[in-house]
Amino acid sequence: MKKPFDSQKLAQGKRVLSGIRATGRLHLGNYLGAVKGMLALQSRVDYETYYMVADVHTITTPYNVEELRKNRREVILDYLAAGLDPEKSVIFQQSEVNEHLELAFYLSSVVTIAKMQHLPTFKEKVKQYPHNATLALLNYPALMAADILIYKAELVPVGIDQEPHLEVAREIARRFNQDYGTNFPEPVSFQTEGKYVPSLTGEGKMSKSVEGSYINLTDSLDVIKSKIAKIPTDEGRGTEITGGVKALFEFVELFQGKDRRDELESQYKNEGVRYGEIKNELAEAIFRELEPIQEKRRELENNPEYVDKVIAEGNEKAQKIATGTIKEVREKMGLS
Ligand code: ADP
Ligand code: TRP
Repeated sequence: MKKPFDSQKLAQGKRVLSGIRATGRLHLGNYLGAVKGMLALQSRVDYETYYMVADVHTITTPYNVEELRKNRREVILDYLAAGLDPEKSVIFQQSEVNEHLELAFYLSSVVTIAKMQHLPTFKEKVKQYPHNATLALLNYPALMAADILIYKAELVPVGIDQEPHLEVAREIARRFNQDYGTNFPEPVSFQTEGKYVPSLTGEGKMSKSVEGSYINLTDSLDVIKSKIAKIPTDEGRGTEITGGVKALFEFVELFQGKDRRDELESQYKNEGVRYGEIKNELAEAIFRELEPIQEKRRELENNPEYVDKVIAEGNEKAQKIATGTIKEVREKMGLS
């Protein structure tokens, strides 16, 4: 049973949607920044939660066909292992609900090329893949807006890096409502304490596309220990906390609490800290959180029929809502 909601601000029977691209196994950034928010919202009784694997978004940057085929299921396994519950949430695959693509095209009629070209997320991807500045990549935010608006979702649990995309979704909703009299809500992000998980390199954010930056949910204690050991540190004492040391202390706060971080920061500024012990403790704390997720994942891997059933049912439920919205949009646009 869902627990009753406990936040006045959010207590209005809202729809929630989120997704993660099918680019590989989930890492701690995805988990803390997105999945934890998804988990928090699915247990509220007055929230209808829709969580998908954004497999169509995956094709906006170069990809391998066989990898995608595998990952569009792997992400769902990670979702279920992390605690997304098909009794509480609709768990589905974006590509199985064609209406997302249809709505994305309709929505793209109210955004300009210039607007899309100036988005920091677009510019970063073009920098990363200079030969891949495609129309699909440019249209990424319109597809994301469609993902959200097709369910008339108001809340979107994602990390802070997705904010520019949500801004576009709000603009599109506004413009569309003005032009066609639709009633799309303007979606806002739902952020967790882990909305910005730093890279293990001490620079930038943890990301799948930066080697050495991440810890996967499936990493063993030994792997976690060796990754944490590589966080660059200094002599253990000083006045300013930056780079790898700052990242390390942020992980301490995320997994061992703010008190422990405060304690270490004060030691750093006074008598000094010893990183060996801190890193070991931290690796163990991270593994403690991941161990049950890994156990659940092994169970799910041994039960493919169950996973297939969850996906098939989720796809069907999502489709029902999406069909309704598309019908309404087509009518309002003069297409039926
Ligand atoms: P990546 O950058 O590793 O490719 P995605 O772009 O697929 O990750 O992100 C999927 C979800 O995880 C998004 O909601 C995103 O905001 C969140 N996320 C990714 N990296 C981080 C991070 N380092 N800190 C917080 N949230 C993150
Ligand atoms: N753009 C998101 C990311 O990179 C993935 C995504 C696609 C998404 N559609 C969405 C997130 C809809 C939230 C809502 O992680």
